[in-house]
Amino acid sequence: MQLPDENIEFQFQRLLVPLVETWSPVAELQSQYLLPAEAVDRIKDEAIRIRGQVVAERELQNPPPKMRPLQAGFIDMPQKLLDGYKRRHDASDLGKILRLAQQLRDTVDRVVILGTGGNYLAPKALLEALGHSYHNEMPPKLRMGRPRIYFEGNSADNDTLQELLELLENSCVDPDLVEERWGIIVISKSGETLETAAAFRALRAEAAKFYGPKSELLRKVIVPITGARSRLRDVCKMEGFSDDQILTIPDDVGGRFSVFTAVGLLPAAVMGLDVRAMLLGAATMTRRFIEEPFDRNPVLQLAAINHLMYERGKTIRVLAAWSKKLEAVGWWYDQLLAESLGKANRGATPLTSVCPRDMHGRGQQFQDGLRDKFIIHLSVRQAKHPPVMIGMSDRNEDDLNQFSRKGLPDLLEAAYKATTEGFWDVGRPTAEIILPIISEHTIGQLLQLLMLATVVEGRLMGTNPYGQPGVQTFKDRMLSHLKAVPNLPKGEVRDAAKGV
Ligand code: PA5
Repeated sequence: MQLPDENIEFQFQRLLVPLVETWSPVAELQSQYLLPAEAVDRIKDEAIRIRGQVVAERELQNPPPKMRPLQAGFIDMPQKLLDGYKRRHDASDLGKILRLAQQLRDTVDRVVILGTGGNYLAPKALLEALGHSYHNEMPPKLRMGRPRIYFEGNSADNDTLQELLELLENSCVDPDLVEERWGIIVISKSGETLETAAAFRALRAEAAKFYGPKSELLRKVIVPITGARSRLRDVCKMEGFSDDQILTIPDDVGGRFSVFTAVGLLPAAVMGLDVRAMLLGAATMTRRFIEEPFDRNPVLQLAAINHLMYERGKTIRVLAAWSKKLEAVGWWYDQLLAESLGKANRGATPLTSVCPRDMHGRGQQFQDGLRDKFIIHLSVRQAKHPPVMIGMSDRNEDDLNQFSRKGLPDLLEAAYKATTEGFWDVGRPTAEIILPIISEHTIGQLLQLLMLATVVEGRLMGTNPYGQPGVQTFKDRMLSHLKAVPNLPKGEVRDAAKGV
């Protein structure tokens, strides 16, 4: 296991009204739009009280009806998995995940991950943050046994699914060659999500065509991840899968909180990521949350600040990622925040931006638009690779020779300073989550920080962060509309697909 770099940090000085003695137009704007430090002092006790409540909720086996749903299992999940692995190695839950990941790596060269919501966004966030940016394009030698990854079953897109089938059919011809084999990770807790279930049916049929309907390989190249009781489990059992070949999402972990179950961990392990370092990071964040006083507690601080900002009319919450590799972490947070707190006509609207890319567009609004935004910068202290230098050139028409000894990290830093100074000077509140570097350990901390802070924020605003009744309404209506679509006469095939 690669071991811990440093802890991630949360800072919020740039949203507090500064102490200044003399009047200036800037000071005037800041006193009008930034947060007085006393507001943070006032909320500390309440945040500590809520922490006690959230910690106690972990132990509730049978919560009273008004507290339901309650799915606090994610809080201790990282440590539980690590402890189980230490005690029982391969026989533990994590051991089983690692074994099935290794089996997939040994058997196939392409893996299609089917799932939507957190089942899509969690693996996507982990693989984009921690994998190679051009992973699928790399030659097999450089991928070192890590299969190419594709995502489907996350929407109802006829054409992308057809194109994936076309790709598999044209590039995978001989099932005896590992480099031409492909597999499926299918993730659905309920097993009733139509987009995922329909895509799984199509790909299962394709796999049966490729490997042969009776092939033993089918149960090696398909790994289902689902709830203890679900239609997906039933289908797989009928297809001859044993319990040992199916991974379980615990009942007390909700979809968007499941990144540190098999949902995130299996795809991460297939990609050769250090899942134990990731879990260690997450477990460290849980410990900091439970043990640290407010002033050293990133979870309580982030939750309290988010709450105060929302109460002051900052209804748009921007996660500004200062690395393109973190964009999918932003999408994952979009789902976490929207589904957890967007209830009863309340809840901040999440927005992911990548900077400085989006400073050339949304930056206009952030600097000058409606004052309804709270921007949380997600910054990374150190790049993973050596700097790309600007360098000297015989042609200096671009006037860059003056910067020849500077590199991309210097460009990024200049952009960051320009952005934060610009916001500060007009009283636009910002905070910052700082990652020393992007690694399994820091990403583990980050995702657990965001999940815990979302739960605490929900409790602070009086909203149950668990459950997603609005999403369920959509799912139920979608099912009844699908039932109402007339079936084609038997044997007839639709030539061209419909759109909407
Ligand atoms: O957060 C949630 O629970 C949802 O977004 C689900 O993850 C999503 O709807 C998929 O559900 P399922 O895992 O049942 O297929």
